Amino acid sequence: MRIYKAANYKEMSRKAANIISAQVILKPDCVLGLATGSTPIGLYEYLVDWYKKGDLDFSKVQTVNLDEYKGLPRDNDQSYYYFMHDNLFNHINIDPANVHLPDGMEPDAEKECRRYDELIRSLGGVDIQLLGIGHNGHIGFNEPDTVFAKGTHCVKLQESTIQANKRFFASAEEVPQYAYTMGIQTIMSAKKILIMANGAGKAEIIKKAFFGPITPEVPASVLQLHGDVTLVLDNEAASLI
Ligand code: PGA
Repeated sequence: MRIYKAANYKEMSRKAANIISAQVILKPDCVLGLATGSTPIGLYEYLVDWYKKGDLDFSKVQTVNLDEYKGLPRDNDQSYYYFMHDNLFNHINIDPANVHLPDGMEPDAEKECRRYDELIRSLGGVDIQLLGIGHNGHIGFNEPDTVFAKGTHCVKLQESTIQANKRFFASAEEVPQYAYTMGIQTIMSAKKILIMANGAGKAEIIKKAFFGPITPEVPASVLQLHGDVTLVLDNEAASLI
């Protein structure tokens, strides 16, 4: 595992953007596994900036996102489809046909999860998977559990996650209760993993996930078993390691 400690959020974002850019430049038709949340917003800003300067070409890149709320239409500004377009896809030359997320409006969970796993396989797997980490160690919507989940599946969100997300909705009742998410096995089969965290609030979970026991109670801890993980942290998130 490589660990980069950046001075602040901006430097963390730039470092992570460098890693994603290197992937796009080295393999123009790569498959990027992308993530939502507040952590990667700065990284996406750098990618947009470098694209506008002519340094990056996304025309052959494929993207697969980690997760999507079940029951939210694409045009809901809290859907991850909306987030990704707003923060990245609308500003770069990605082919819309190459953008993939779980379909939150597909009511048949089994069908949708199977479709998504087959899609990822048909693309040849993920070259680099970007991840944030939740305060409880979740990655994607893989919440603490007694076993590591496998492929893409439908999860009932934990109360703590609903509470953390409710700032984006008018009330907690409006926060979706279910989501589709890549499973731990899907994430672990990415060739490379890039995980980012910033802020003092993440320091404890970073220590637990990467320097504590590997347990499904801390889903991110499974990444200790992956052969190519890069952790990019700001000083605060790195303060306990
Ligand atoms: P955040 O979320 O980037 O908004 O902190 C990370 C996560 O919950 O995976």
